[in-house]
Amino acid sequence: MLSYISAKEAAEKWNISQRRVAILCSEARISGAMMVGNMWIIPADAEKPIDKRTVRYEKIHKVELKPFVKWVGGKGQLVDEIEKMLPSDGEKTLTKYAEPMVGGGALFFNVLSRYNFEELYISDINSELINAYTAIKQDVEALIKRLDDMQMTFLPLDTNGRKYYYYNIRDKFNSVELNNKTSIEKAAYFIFLNKTCFNGLYRVNRKGLFNVPMGAYKNPTICDAENLRNIHSALQNVTIICGDYTLSQSFIDSKTFVYLDPPYRPISETSGFTSYNSDAFDDNEQIRLAKFIDEINEAGAKIVLSNSDPKNVNPDDNFFDDLYKSYRIHRVSATRMINSNAEKRGKINELLICN
Ligand SMILES: C[S@@+](CC[C@H](N)C(=O)[O-])C[C@H]1O[C@@H](n2cnc3c(N)ncnc32)[C@H](O)[C@@H]1O
Repeated sequence: MLSYISAKEAAEKWNISQRRVAILCSEARISGAMMVGNMWIIPADAEKPIDKRTVRYEKIHKVELKPFVKWVGGKGQLVDEIEKMLPSDGEKTLTKYAEPMVGGGALFFNVLSRYNFEELYISDINSELINAYTAIKQDVEALIKRLDDMQMTFLPLDTNGRKYYYYNIRDKFNSVELNNKTSIEKAAYFIFLNKTCFNGLYRVNRKGLFNVPMGAYKNPTICDAENLRNIHSALQNVTIICGDYTLSQSFIDSKTFVYLDPPYRPISETSGFTSYNSDAFDDNEQIRLAKFIDEINEAGAKIVLSNSDPKNVNPDDNFFDDLYKSYRIHRVSATRMINSNAEKRGKINELLICN
C-alpha cells in the first residue's frame, strides 16, 4: 500500500519551501501527488524534481542528431542507461561535457541533441575519424558534394562494378597522407568506406592500412546531407582533438560531465576486437585509464565509464571490480554487436562505472 506525506513534510525533506512544493504539484512535476480537500499529498517515496531554475545543462528539444558513422563498440543501446547517470541534482551545476574516446559518438550526439552544455570537448586517437569530425565542422558543403557524387556513382553499379569502385576508393584512402589539403577528400573516402564496408568495421593492418573488405548492403545511405548539416551547426562550439584521452585533463574540472568508453577488454581470447588502431587496449592500458579517472575524480568531475563485464565469461574475474573498488559499478544488459559469427551475438552484461 502506498503511503503519503503532506506538502509540509515534503518541503522539509527536500529543503524547499512549502509554496514551491505546491507549485511543483500543480505543474504535475511530482508523480502521484494528489489534491485531497485543499491540500496536496505526496507519495512518501517521491523524488525531489529537478529544479529547472538552477540546472544549467537543462534538457532541450533540438533537432535529433544521429552518428554519421557506424562504429564498433557504439553505445546506441546503452544511451538511455547512461543518460540516467546525468545527475538530476539541481544544486550541482554541470556546464561542460567531455567525451575523450568519442568513436561514433552515440551518447555525444544524443547529448548534443538534447542538452544545453556551454562547452563541449571530444577526442579520439583515430586520426581519420577525427579528421571526419573536423571536416564536418569546417566545410560540410564540400564534404556533402563529394559524398553525393560518390553515392550517385556507386549505387547504380552492379556487384562487380561496386567492388571495382570500392577497392579503388580503399586504395586511394590508403595512399593519401592526411594533411590540410586532402582532409575533405579523405573524410569523404572515410565515410564512404564506413557506409559500404563489411559491418562498418574500421580495421588496419600492421602497416596502418585500412583492410576491411566490401560489405553487402543493397542500398547504403552514403550521403545523409540533412544529418551532416545539422551536425555541422551543432559542432560549432565543440573542441575536437585528435590524440590520447589524457589531453582532455586540462579541459576537465568540477563543472564537467565526462563519459569514457574505452575499447573493450576482450571477453575471450578469440572474440576480442580491440584494435581500432594498431595498438591494442590491453590490461596495462585499462590500469593507466583507471589512474586518469582517479585524477579527474579528484578534480571533482562527474564521471561515467563503460566497459564489457569480464564476468560474462569468467564469474571469478574481478579485474574491474578491483580496479574500480572505490566507485559505483552497475551491470546492465546489452546485446554485443561485434562478432563476425552472427549466432554468437547475444545478451551480455556491460559495466557502467561512476563516481
Ligand atoms: C568503444 S569505442 C567508443 C565508441 C563510442 N562510444 C561510440 O558510441 O561509437 C573506443 C574508442 O576509443 C578510441 N581510443 C582508443 N585508445 C584511445 C586513446 N588512448 N585515447 C583516445 N581514444 C582512444 C578508439 O579509437 C575508439 O574510437
